[in-house]
Amino acid sequence: MALLSVENLSAYYRTEIYGISRTVRAVDGVSFELKPNEIYGVAGESSCGKTTLIKVISGNLKPPLKVNSGSVSYHFGIHAVDMLHISQEELRRDLRWKEISYVMQGSMSVLNPVRKIIRTFEDIVDTHEGIPDKKRFFEQVREHVNRLGLPSEVLTSYPHQLSGGMRQRVAIALATVFHPRLIIADEPTTALDVVVQRGVLQMIKDIQAMSNNTVLLVTHDMAVHANVADRVMIMYAGRIAEEAPTEIIFNAPLHPYTQHLIHSLPMIGERSNKVSLRGAPPNLANPPTGCRFHERCPYVMDICRTEVPELVTVQDGHRVACHLVKENPL
Ligand SMILES: Nc1ncnc2c1ncn2[C@@H]1O[C@H](COP(=O)(O)OP(=O)(O)O)[C@@H](O)[C@H]1O
Ligand SMILES: [Mg+2]
Repeated sequence: MALLSVENLSAYYRTEIYGISRTVRAVDGVSFELKPNEIYGVAGESSCGKTTLIKVISGNLKPPLKVNSGSVSYHFGIHAVDMLHISQEELRRDLRWKEISYVMQGSMSVLNPVRKIIRTFEDIVDTHEGIPDKKRFFEQVREHVNRLGLPSEVLTSYPHQLSGGMRQRVAIALATVFHPRLIIADEPTTALDVVVQRGVLQMIKDIQAMSNNTVLLVTHDMAVHANVADRVMIMYAGRIAEEAPTEIIFNAPLHPYTQHLIHSLPMIGERSNKVSLRGAPPNLANPPTGCRFHERCPYVMDICRTEVPELVTVQDGHRVACHLVKENPL
């Protein structure tokens, strides 16, 4: 059974400035599932709705963000949770950190700059479980960070004494202290240089392998997905363009947008300049009609301008929303 089922989810930012209301359709009709024990990647260029999607599924809804329609349900063993109707109290008490951990974009900010790292661990564990035995608690935290390959000294450091990569790894260690069933990481490697990125990605892979949990990894960086994800969802302008096992996304992509993302990845030894997409990403307050990609698509047809392409399953586990694919099935 799926760990998470998201069905037809739409979430919009509704703002009103000087009497002018504006609706940003950041997530629009998204359906997908997360399986136990997988690393699922969410890709797509900046502003396509990745962070909004995970805000909704992690229960971090705050105005002006509102769910317009759809459902988000978790299955934790025999325990089912309707994320869109759960109380804040239940969410805080039973789910956050324990079942679902969210390593936010720029997550190093969860670390309080004026407190040593161990104090942040103490604050979180104390609020959620209480700490009956301090000495044992310190031992457990030390074991936890060591198991994740971090030296014990990080615990007695202040955040500013650590490098960016180390801070990110500490944020991930913090998020996994209760062994949650789902770890959501939003652009965990984006601010880091390539060598440091590798360490952070390896850490995510190790945690997943050790604990058999599910990781939802959000990043615009396709090279990261190629390295760690089992399956990848490609988002474009608030919708799913394509979803498939990583191998298929990289070797046999069907959506023209996915093809563009793959072809613009740098190859070793390559000299030629990459072709960029024409036009700019759409404005989600006023998205294009039909297929949202049509204005930039090299294969645009008439139907693309008027009809929204359905997300169809072309092969087991491979879904694509493109009129071209629908007209020329595999
Ligand atoms: N607080 C907000 N108010 C209004 N619009 C927002 C807000 N946060 C994000 N958006 C808009 O929602 C869209 C999706 O943003 P986001 O989910 O952050 O994308 P991504 O994570 O893929 O870069 C963008 O058009 C962005 O400008
Ligand atoms: Mg984002």
